[in-house]
Amino acid sequence: MVVVNAVEMAHKFIISRLTAAKLVIDATAGNGKDTLFLAKHTPPNATVFAFDIQPQAIANTELLLNQHHLLPKAQLILDSHANIANYIDQPIDVAMFNLGYLPGGDHTLSTCSEITKQAISQTLQLLTVGGLLTVAAYPGYEHGKQECHAVHQYLAGLSQQIFTVASWAMVNQTNSPPVLYIIEKKGVNSLESSTSLKD
Ligand SMILES: C[S@@+](CC[C@H](N)C(=O)[O-])C[C@H]1O[C@@H](n2cnc3c(N)ncnc32)[C@H](O)[C@@H]1O
Repeated sequence: MVVVNAVEMAHKFIISRLTAAKLVIDATAGNGKDTLFLAKHTPPNATVFAFDIQPQAIANTELLLNQHHLLPKAQLILDSHANIANYIDQPIDVAMFNLGYLPGGDHTLSTCSEITKQAISQTLQLLTVGGLLTVAAYPGYEHGKQECHAVHQYLAGLSQQIFTVASWAMVNQTNSPPVLYIIEKKGVNSLESSTSLKD
């Protein structure tokens, strides 16, 4: 088996889009592994914005990037991804959302449905045509199950004219394995409001 996990699968989906990317986002920096992946595979002049609400996550990400001499490419932002549009007004080429809580950290500081939907909506508005957004969701625990359901419902309602939305999951694993959503922007929304992303 080549791939067994949703985050590795997200990396496989986005890697070819990173080679010419100028601006990419890790919406949940955590321990910095996805931020590092984005920084490694984008051109030297690209910028990687990484958001997290926990100082420890930002510190872990900073340390990891520094160890790989990639910190100059990154903008590490200690703020909620609900505020992405306050920091970015340029087209986004690729965005990753890896939901849930900081591994080894406080489980109560997890991503949550309403904020996640707001952040995805803002990112989709800014996503360039041909750009990709991935969401790894974790339905294996109660809070994660509700969030995964909310994300699924939100993405299922996006306009077919503007987005292609797919999902990937292992089907023979016990305990509700993670689900990966992959969204590609294929058209432009004519209005500015988030409702314009719907049919
Ligand atoms: C599963 S971890 C991310 C893993 C990370 N991408 C990595 O490679 O290590 C989820 C992260 O989301 C963060 N988070 C929770 N709510 C957030 C929010 N509103 N905005 C930004 N980050 C948030 C948590 O603090 C946690 O660090």
